[in-house]
Amino acid sequence: MDLNSSFVQFSLFSFPFFLLFLLLPLSIHLLLRIKSSPSQVKARNLPPGPRRWPVIGNIPLFIWKNPHVIVSNLARIHGPLMSLRLGTQVIILGSSPDAAKEILKTHDRDLSGRCAPKATPIKESDLKKFSLLWATDCSPKWKSIRVLWKGELFSNKALEAQACLREKKVAEMVEYLGRKEGEVVKIGEVVFAAVYNTLGNLCFSRDLIGLGDEKMARDWKEVFWRFMECATTPLIADFFPVLDGLGLDFQGKKKQAAKCMKKMFGVWQELIRQRRESADDSKKHGDFLDFMLENGFLDIQILFMLLEILPAGAGTLVATIEWAMAELIKNKEAMIKLEEELQTHKIVDSNSIRESHISQLPYLNACVKETLRLHPPIAFLPHSAQSTCEVMSYTVPENSLVFVNLWAIGHDPTVWEDPFSFRPERFLNSNLDYKGQDFELLPFGAGRRMCPGLPFANKKVHLILAVLVGCFDWSLPDNRDPSDLDMNEKYAVPLQKEKSLLLIPHRKS
Ligand code: HEM
Repeated sequence: MDLNSSFVQFSLFSFPFFLLFLLLPLSIHLLLRIKSSPSQVKARNLPPGPRRWPVIGNIPLFIWKNPHVIVSNLARIHGPLMSLRLGTQVIILGSSPDAAKEILKTHDRDLSGRCAPKATPIKESDLKKFSLLWATDCSPKWKSIRVLWKGELFSNKALEAQACLREKKVAEMVEYLGRKEGEVVKIGEVVFAAVYNTLGNLCFSRDLIGLGDEKMARDWKEVFWRFMECATTPLIADFFPVLDGLGLDFQGKKKQAAKCMKKMFGVWQELIRQRRESADDSKKHGDFLDFMLENGFLDIQILFMLLEILPAGAGTLVATIEWAMAELIKNKEAMIKLEEELQTHKIVDSNSIRESHISQLPYLNACVKETLRLHPPIAFLPHSAQSTCEVMSYTVPENSLVFVNLWAIGHDPTVWEDPFSFRPERFLNSNLDYKGQDFELLPFGAGRRMCPGLPFANKKVHLILAVLVGCFDWSLPDNRDPSDLDMNEKYAVPLQKEKSLLLIPHRKS
């Protein structure tokens, strides 16, 4: 089953827009409040943007599918720094490399806040205490969690120590696919199991999904995706904060998110309990959980961290690999070039690839960059303004949401030649990278909120893609022509293929 998912479900097309009209009497009240509200931004010197309706502002723009495409088209009309108003919420969108640089570098201090959607089933006070992703500001608490992640999970030393584990989980995936030779597989689900088990081993020293247990992989993927989708779908109170506290959740999204969270916490809590009970120095695992327990973290703190490591990590990685495979299947020339590169380096089975080979595979690297340019898993970097500042000669008011539109930058013909085509060659003989220095290519963000999982993701994506292409030939079900492969997107974070990619593996001879 396909489910939208996201860190920031900025999509409104599923939003019961008509409900706003049912609330018309309230609108009048709101209008009066807006007039006198000090946080209401005067139109003075805001970046340009499309015309707004009274009260609801630009909400009607989002009744159509794919908001990332809608706002990217609007940016071509209104410019690289644009403003929208959804209800009383001001939204600033940066849609060019220069605007991204201003937001993420020049004004990083002012614009590195976050605003958790109201559907997130976590109390604001808990988010402040325990969350990295949804920490409202870069507080000392947020900093200490990032330092912990960097040191324990993603430092060079930690990554080196985990290399065997990542390689082992990939080898298991290859073995499983070998058993599925000639059968149709949902590649997203297979990759999900490999990624989730890798992360599960980092945290708990054990697999969280049985290899080959397709139902379990499907169910867990669904729980993660549903959680992310529901927790981030805008509620009315996201646009009319004055309604916060009334618990208006017409679609039941907050309730569903809470249900998914309960399911995840239930399983992880049990693993924590077992570890606490068996805690004894002779049984150390050397994993993240041991570290957390040794350092006196409470269950609730550990659970919140897992919530940001497991769904966030697995979702983005799986989406990237599914898109990369879809592009390679559709673009035969690129697939052949990648196969040739892998054959030259004798990468023909999971034993012949080590992570250390990755830097010697320029075409593989170029394929990953090109995939992330065309299909950034997080289409909008979700920031907020902690204080009012001037950006590109416009005012960005305090408390406005500030999004960098990566999809618009990745598809801008003034930045990229032939931007809608998959052409990995554009990255060969180029120093352009996604480490946060080149503002044309920011799939992991930049600045202080940049993705802390980048070093891990970078290794895992390359490794999985190398074995999928190096060890197998792939065909589409019913002998369909790859050039007809449906590449439609469904807005979510991660940005998804509307139709899951179904493929048939054939062992390379
Ligand atoms: C292809 C894989 C991935 C992509 C493209 C990606 C992308 C991103 C982006 C764009 C952001 C927001 C940056 C900003 O606001 O400026 C982010 C934040 C974050 N990512 Fe990733 N990510 C990936 C993998 C991972 C993994 C594997 C993990 C964890 C295991 C992870 C955990 C996080 C967390 C916790 C944050 C919030 C950081 C903060 O707000 O301080 N991500 N990621």
